[in-house]
Amino acid sequence: MSQAMMSLVKQHLECDDQLNRVEAALHKEDLASAGRNFRLFDEQLEHHFHLEEDRLFPAFEKATGMTNGPTMVMRGEHAEIRALRDQAASEIENKNIQSALSTLDTLNVLIQQHNVKEENILYPMCGGSIPHLSSVLGMGGCGGGACSCSS
Ligand SMILES: [Fe+2]
Ligand SMILES: [Fe+2]
Repeated sequence: MSQAMMSLVKQHLECDDQLNRVEAALHKEDLASAGRNFRLFDEQLEHHFHLEEDRLFPAFEKATGMTNGPTMVMRGEHAEIRALRDQAASEIENKNIQSALSTLDTLNVLIQQHNVKEENILYPMCGGSIPHLSSVLGMGGCGGGACSCSS
């Protein structure tokens, strides 16, 4: 797996860790910490989703001509994840700890299922079909254009 793909996988793990911090704070009934950690989770998740939606998916669609395939499914799952994220945000905001914990459980399952598909199916397909992947993702690497690297 390329460096660029490994960075995306690392972002998955960082989001997981951040979500765990929110759950730990809720278990301690520390709503201030839960809210703070949830905002950080939200920022990390959106940063990652935008990297995929604005850079990775369009590059995959352009390289393969597939617009109704895996990227369409992944965009749909992002929408489901965001809906649950919004629900959890308002439950935390309303100090509804039990509901928030149960929503976060479901959110966690959805995210894990989504990440497994990306890591096992979509990312390897992207690695094989998108030239200059690092620069497509804004992660440095080659300069694109006439460069012949395989990153
Ligand atoms: Fe995704
Ligand atoms: Fe992802």
